[in-house]
Parts: sequence; structure tokens; C-alpha cells
Amino acid sequence: MGPASSLFFMGLVMVVGSVSSSRFDELFQAQWALDHFVYQGDTVQMKLDNFSGAGFSSKNKYMFGKVNVQIKLVEGDSAGTVTAFYMSSDGPKHHEFDFEFLGNTTGEPYIVQTNVYVNGVGNREQRLNLWFDPTKDFHSYSILWNQRQVVFLVDDTPIRVHSNLEHKGLPFPKDQAMGVYSSIWNADDWATQGGRVKTDWSHAPFIASYRGFEIDGCECPATVAAAEVSRKCSSSAEKRYWWDEPRLSELSLHQSHQLLWVRANHMIYDYCTDTARFPVTPVECQHHHH
Ligand SMILES: *[C@@H]1O[C@H](CO)[C@@H](O)[C@H](O)[C@H]1NC(C)=O
Ligand SMILES: *[C@@H]1O[C@H](CO)[C@@H](O)[C@H](O)[C@H]1NC(C)=O
Repeated sequence: MGPASSLFFMGLVMVVGSVSSSRFDELFQAQWALDHFVYQGDTVQMKLDNFSGAGFSSKNKYMFGKVNVQIKLVEGDSAGTVTAFYMSSDGPKHHEFDFEFLGNTTGEPYIVQTNVYVNGVGNREQRLNLWFDPTKDFHSYSILWNQRQVVFLVDDTPIRVHSNLEHKGLPFPKDQAMGVYSSIWNADDWATQGGRVKTDWSHAPFIASYRGFEIDGCECPATVAAAEVSRKCSSSAEKRYWWDEPRLSELSLHQSHQLLWVRANHMIYDYCTDTARFPVTPVECQHHHH
């Protein structure tokens, strides 16, 4: 093998299992209420009306990497509606990383709620107001996931980190492949101002718009056994995945400052400080608050 072909071969080895794309239909499919989708060029819209919401899902499952989507949330009156963008594995001991956008009456702020489920257990809600109006333009919402941390980002600004604390005896999600999902539905029993404001169906349809679909992760076809998945998606001598770079094992200094700014200026609820719900502070929270 000459130098050129061995270089080519190395390139192939290094990108094993990693995919990156930006087209909706390469990565995703409408999952339910297919008649509540509108496709316009590179933009996909999902509609909620009094008959149905809608949802899409990734065609594949992934382990580690980064998923990103640009969303323009429901304009005007969105009270009672929830739009979600999340990753989830299957089964009762599933893991899940959630963005949930809680609508509001015209002119009142959307809330972004995030949550992390590990082995089927959630109850880790955080809520924030955004530093922009998410209904006026598309903004990026992403999840970075590797063996060390799960980071939620809004326009590349980290808003939440869930760190691997296995050394403190806490389970960390790194053994199950996850799908990527989004949906819009009616949740007026709880979403807006604690459920006091109901969905006003005279303002339907409620439309969430999406574009800029990106998944750069380790693809795990359903045919790959669970035990194999962890091995396939871990870096080794033969393959090095970008998300295992040491610099991605924690936030950069700049990102830490950004997160502090978000927490100080935009956080309105954190399960970590909800002593009524958790008289004993959850262990991962003791770590999160330096
Ligand atoms: C809706 O707006 C009200 C009033 O500004 C605010 O208290 C609430 O947190 C907002 N968001 C939701 C989801 O209720
Ligand atoms: C849905 O809303 C429309 C407009 O408000 C109304 O005419 C229709 O009867 C509603 N349908 C159902 C199933 O509630």
C-alpha cells in the first residue's frame, strides 16, 4: 500500500460508525400524525390542532456524539402547548435527555425545561427563560453526549451539564443507544402557568418549524446487540471518536463562564434547590454547585 492509500484507509477507520447529515429525510421520519407535517424546502413544520399533535423520530439509534436542530417555536399564543426535542433509549430502564419548550400566552415568555432520565428515573427538571424570543427566529438546540458528560446547549451556549459521577457511585447513561425525537402536543393540564392557562383552540394550528438537522454520532443499527453497542461506540486503538477528545470531557473555561451566566440570569427553577421535593440534596447536585 502506498502512502496515499494507507492514509485513505486510516481515514476510513477513523470515521467508522460516525454519521453527519443535515437533511431531514436522511436522518428522520415522521413518526405519528403524518398529515400534521408540512415540508417546505429544508424546513419541516409540525402542527398541533384539536385533532392531533405530531412527532418525528430518527431512523437510527446512536450512542455518543452530538445532535443539533434549529427550531422556531410556536408564534403568538402558544399557551398549553409543549414542543419537545429529546434523545431516549427504550424500555423501563431507559435513559433520556430532554428539552421541553412550554408555550405561553402572546407576549409572555416561553420556558425551556430540561430533564435527564437515568435507568428510568427522571425528576431532574431545570427551567429557564431564554435571552431571546424563540418564536421570532430559528435557534440551535443541541445535546453533546460522551462518556464524561451530557451537555445541553442553546446557540452553542451550555445551559446544563450532567457529569459522569460513577466514581461517586452514580449511574451514568453510557450503555444504551438512543433515538432522537421531537414532538408537539397539548399539555394544558400542566404546561402554562401551572396548568391555569388552557389551550385556546381558536388560535390553532400551533406550528413549530425545524431545519438544520445534524447528528454526528456513533450509529447503532437495531441489529447490533446491546453489549456490542458499547464496544463499537467506544474509542480504541483502531478508531478514535471526536467526542472522546480530552478537551470534551468537561466544559472549557469559556463555557463554564457562559453556564454561570445562564444560571445567574435565566434559571427560574432547579430541582437541586427544591428542598420541598428533595429534603436531601441529590448527590449530583452537590457536585454541580461549585
Ligand atoms: C408564562 O408567562 C408568565 C407571566 O410572565 C410566567 O410567570 C410563566 O413562567 C411563563 N411560562 C409558563 C410556561 O407558564
Ligand atoms: C376543533 O376546533 C374547531 C375550531 O375551533 C371547531 O370548529 C371544531 O369543532 C373542533 N373539533 C373538535 C374535534 O373539537
